[in-house]
Amino acid sequence: MSKPIYVLSGPNLNLLGVREPEIYGKQTLDDVRAACEARAAALGRQIVFRQTNHEGELIDWVQEAREAASALVINPAGYGHTSVALLDALKMLAIPIVECHLSNPASREEFRRHTYVSLAATGLVSGFGAKSYELAVEAAAGLSA
Ligand code: DQA
Repeated sequence: MSKPIYVLSGPNLNLLGVREPEIYGKQTLDDVRAACEARAAALGRQIVFRQTNHEGELIDWVQEAREAASALVINPAGYGHTSVALLDALKMLAIPIVECHLSNPASREEFRRHTYVSLAATGLVSGFGAKSYELAVEAAAGLSA
């Protein structure tokens, strides 16, 4: 059995479903988790799915993924636009990294057009709502064994 795909989410994504649903959709993070687990299982893979509002905790999990994961899917949320420390942690990974966003940040405010995470990511899935996560898991599975 291969190592799990880590699926990490950053701040405010615990409020998915009630947070600006016109932008992020009505599905909750539990719905997203279930969809990711189902997609991974269909591909014969397992996931570790976690969310935090704390930058340091997110970085701890990225560091954990260095050894424990076969690939990483990360929705850094607001930290993608601000955190050099998160980028530094991601640069230590030798596994594929798929950056994931529910919305399409490139089509929104100017300050969302840059993410530090993109500098370390293998690829990016954005703009498909909760489906972005499923597509990112599929991409991560295809890039890793
Ligand atoms: C987000 C986009 C970010 O700009 C924003 O700060 C988020 C969510 C997304 O999934 O679309 O919190 O990462």
